[in-house]
Amino acid sequence: MARVSDPLTINKTLLKNRMTMAPTVKFDYAGEDGKVTDKHIEHYRKRAEGGLGLICVEATAVTPGGRFAKNHLGLWEEAQVEGHRAISGVCHENGVPVIIQLNHTGIISNPACGPAIGPSAVPTRNPEILSKEMSIAEIHEMQEQFVAAAVRAKKAGYDGVQLHGCHGYLINQFAAKKTNLRSDEYGGSTVNRARFGSEIISEIRKSCGSDFLISVRTTGIEPDIATAIEIAEEYVKAGCDYLQVSTGIEWEDPTVDENNEHYNRFCSLGVRFHEHFKGRVPVSCVNGINDAAQVKYLIENELVDTVDLARAVLADPAFCSAVLEDKTYNKCFGCPRCQYGPAMPHKCPAGGGI
Ligand SMILES: Cc1cc2nc3c(=O)[nH]c(=O)nc-3n(C[C@H](O)[C@H](O)[C@H](O)COP(=O)(O)O)c2cc1C
Repeated sequence: MARVSDPLTINKTLLKNRMTMAPTVKFDYAGEDGKVTDKHIEHYRKRAEGGLGLICVEATAVTPGGRFAKNHLGLWEEAQVEGHRAISGVCHENGVPVIIQLNHTGIISNPACGPAIGPSAVPTRNPEILSKEMSIAEIHEMQEQFVAAAVRAKKAGYDGVQLHGCHGYLINQFAAKKTNLRSDEYGGSTVNRARFGSEIISEIRKSCGSDFLISVRTTGIEPDIATAIEIAEEYVKAGCDYLQVSTGIEWEDPTVDENNEHYNRFCSLGVRFHEHFKGRVPVSCVNGINDAAQVKYLIENELVDTVDLARAVLADPAFCSAVLEDKTYNKCFGCPRCQYGPAMPHKCPAGGGI
């Protein structure tokens, strides 16, 4: 039987247990320059002290136009590297490897940050305005921005990167039929739709070396699990070491809805991916895992390799130590205050400071 305390090596990175911190953006910790602040460092230091096996730093923009909002963390220029070195430093001081999630918002870009661009001209945040379809040259330029950000991440001391390939952002927009209407090599077949992400992965591998951990937070739908797995297969072929499964844009697979297995339907996507990739690529699941019994159930039954925790470790930075030592912790209330927008509270009512 697997145990939550079992170590796991992904590529060359050793995780001391099976609990990982999911990326959770902290609006207004960064200023308009996108630089890391003392608040970020303190936030990640507390989580690193709290027993996690791996931390994934929040969604970080690869260009200023790809930010969620003007107060969103970035890694689009050299001047931002130093601050990130401080985050990787506090994680490593506590024996916790750390990767960073790289993102561009694409067709749902915030107009205050940049134009809505993407694989095709489709409705944006304002459904009356269509996004601009990226030319092949623009696609290549964008891929280079992801790779350049990964190179900076390596310079900043991160053990690897996570590409944000889910939740409807740019890499997911290319992978999804609904937002990718192209008929060239970046659209049409599943392989073509996965190409935008796959080429980024292979270029990161070339630029950052064989030891650099590359994770993709990939969509578990699009529009069904079988297609999502084909997309992930392309990422793995390109060099992805670790699949962290969440949700995406279009959900047409009725089988997912039939029962509420493994706590909820999002979590079950990771479980299904794990069944498929078992023994080849480690897989995590996420969503609503906020008590010790759930963590143990998923790991001890070998339903996934790692569990990805967002609100549980926002509510209590020491959640993972508590799980390992059978101690009490502040449990996430699942309250509606913990949202994805600028109104997100920096003080969690369950007790944890965000
Ligand atoms: C405050 C907050 C910020 C988030 N920011 C990100 C992010 O930067 N990138 C991402 O992929 N998901 C983000 N998410 C989604 C979480 O990583 C996670 O998938 C979701 O909260 C479900 O997991 P949980 O039940 O453990 O919270 C965020 C969620 C919350 C609550």
